[in-house]
Amino acid sequence: MINIVDRKAGPTISKYIYGHFAEHLGRCIYDGLYVGTDSTIPNKNGMRTDVVEALKNIRIPVLRWPGGCFADEYHWKDGIGETSTRKKIVNTHWGGVTETNHFGTHEFFELIDQLGCDAYINGNVGSGTVQEMQEWVEYMTMAGESPMSEYRRENGREEPWTVKFFGVGNESWGCGGNMRPQYYADLYRRYQTYVRQYDKEKIYKIACGPNVDDYQWMEEVMKSAAPFMDGISLHHYALTGAWEEKGSALNFDEKYWWSLIKSAEKMDELITKHSTIMDTYDPEKRVGLIIDEWGSWLAVEPGTNPGFLYQQNTIRDAMVAAVTLNIFHKHAERVQMANIAQTVNVLQAMLLTEGSALVKTPSYHVFDLYQVHQDAQRVESYGDTIDNMSYTVSKEGDVLNLSICNYALEGDQALHFQLESLIKGVPSSRYIQGAEMDSHNDFDHPQEIIIRSFSDYAIEGNNLTLTIPAKAVLTIQLELMDLK
Ligand code: AHR
Repeated sequence: MINIVDRKAGPTISKYIYGHFAEHLGRCIYDGLYVGTDSTIPNKNGMRTDVVEALKNIRIPVLRWPGGCFADEYHWKDGIGETSTRKKIVNTHWGGVTETNHFGTHEFFELIDQLGCDAYINGNVGSGTVQEMQEWVEYMTMAGESPMSEYRRENGREEPWTVKFFGVGNESWGCGGNMRPQYYADLYRRYQTYVRQYDKEKIYKIACGPNVDDYQWMEEVMKSAAPFMDGISLHHYALTGAWEEKGSALNFDEKYWWSLIKSAEKMDELITKHSTIMDTYDPEKRVGLIIDEWGSWLAVEPGTNPGFLYQQNTIRDAMVAAVTLNIFHKHAERVQMANIAQTVNVLQAMLLTEGSALVKTPSYHVFDLYQVHQDAQRVESYGDTIDNMSYTVSKEGDVLNLSICNYALEGDQALHFQLESLIKGVPSSRYIQGAEMDSHNDFDHPQEIIIRSFSDYAIEGNNLTLTIPAKAVLTIQLELMDLK
């Protein structure tokens, strides 16, 4: 039995935990989000209508752009002005393809506007100057008269935009400059000084944090720069084994089912240990841990460009998503934002596109099932630990949200929850399930995994009993009688 302490409210689960990431990588931006105004694919000002609609449906709260590794090679002035005259560059990190710069600052904010979400811009420290970063912020956010706001007006935009989050460099320990932590910490202090506050909306500044378990990086950067930051990033991808031997997204055996999920579960240990270091320099937990890259990183689909990181997405990836989101909820006091990599056609994508066709992945459906937790308050629980089962509870008003992931390969699992309050009704109860461990949606079978209504539960007073099938993720909402 599991007891749910529903009359006590825990910390708010920030909606930004449900954030996304879009890099100039493969077919994420071009083809995925942006097709241009001349495309026959239905679009509004160049943005794919079907993709925008799908992302709005899961209430995307924030989008990180333009990278990733691309961010530290991106020079924003290449991406403004008349599209046909924009400088073409080589996307050296990702396949060595030509980057037309047709999608730039104005297009990004058009997308943000259509999505109705907040902007997370990642600035260039690796190959950019302080002046370039300062001018970009001025260009985007300055309302009055200034050289950069005039420049923006010349390019057709009168009003400034709101930049909610700004990252100062990406993976500065690797593709962002191969720096050592002390050197980066000093650069961070310097660059962030010129991320000026032109707008009334405070810019939340994010320092580049560690890769996976590089605790020394966290220690050094927090020690030297904590007072100058609002957040610090952490990157951890779920792998099936060694980094160099990425497993297939579709053709895998049971061993790789477990190894990928175990790798995702490591997020709990990573957040715990990094938070402990952060506590030394920030005991008030003012600085957020920002997991701005996470998700499954598997082998690319055969026949696709290895630099495009295009992978299929199965019910196994849905397990990774649910298990990880549950971990973020557990650490809601410290985790203020997370951005799964990457929105369309790259890594653990929400959506896959081929021409005008669109497929929603099982991971997309997890974000759909879990959207009830955005900005809800975490609720504590205690009791039996059940193998291969991960769950999370939150509440908003008099509605309790319970999400459960059964990642066992075989066998239904009966669960018994006892609440403090009486259960009055069930506003919604929905789930996804994979018949096989590699069940997925593709362009021939886009509805193999869809959200279905879940009815295998019984309620008596303040007791809830459910039977969850294997390879399933479910969210049930309970209306409570006397929830305070
Ligand atoms: O998401 C793909 C890449 O992974 C990003 O560009 C980089 O930051 C990370 O190594």
